Amino acid sequence: MSTPRDIAVVVGSLRKESYNRKMALAIAQLAPPSLKFEIVEIGQLALFNQDDEANPPPPNVAFKARIQKADAVLFVTPEYNRSVPGVLKNAIDVASRPYGKSAWDGKPAAVISVSPGAIGAFGANHHLRQSLVFLNMPTLQQPEAYIGQAATLFDAAGKLANEQTREFITKFIDAFATLIDRYKK
Ligand SMILES: Cc1cc2nc3c(=O)[nH]c(=O)nc-3n(C[C@H](O)[C@H](O)[C@H](O)COP(=O)(O)O)c2cc1C
Repeated sequence: MSTPRDIAVVVGSLRKESYNRKMALAIAQLAPPSLKFEIVEIGQLALFNQDDEANPPPPNVAFKARIQKADAVLFVTPEYNRSVPGVLKNAIDVASRPYGKSAWDGKPAAVISVSPGAIGAFGANHHLRQSLVFLNMPTLQQPEAYIGQAATLFDAAGKLANEQTREFITKFIDAFATLIDRYKK
């Protein structure tokens, strides 16, 4: 068997009981052996400061290196005030600099947004997509993944218990795998 694709999963919430983190873990479990989804933590990153670009803090250096090594990136994010949480935007900025040396450049990406609300964090999903255009990340277009009513989807152990959502996520993973193969280096 060939080496599985290494997919860095960036979760836009630091909350312990985060629905987005639960979704990220469910995706790792539903994925076929050819895809390895691994959460790359962002809560330890220092706030990006352009003054430190030439000598960034060690956690930021390590994060950028981890993204650099990945074959693809999956963003799983909540919506804060109709946009992405600051912690996620910080992580994006950290790995994007210095100019011309972005770790995101050319990596296939996909976005899932998860919210207890009805519209599935649509606003965050599309604000994030705006950054991905600039970062030159070929991004999965269909299916779009706006997951609403998150409080009803997981069981007490945090597992994805809603069958319809499991089926949808399985299709989403298949489509992402096809995109990743298309851009395979
Ligand atoms: C600062 C803040 C702003 C929020 N703004 C929105 C919003 O614009 N849209 C939305 O659907 N939910 C919003 N919420 C509610 C989040 O969707 C909810 O807290 C969710 O559980 C966060 O995702 P998580 O479970 O992965 O931590 C907001 C929550 C916080 C803390």
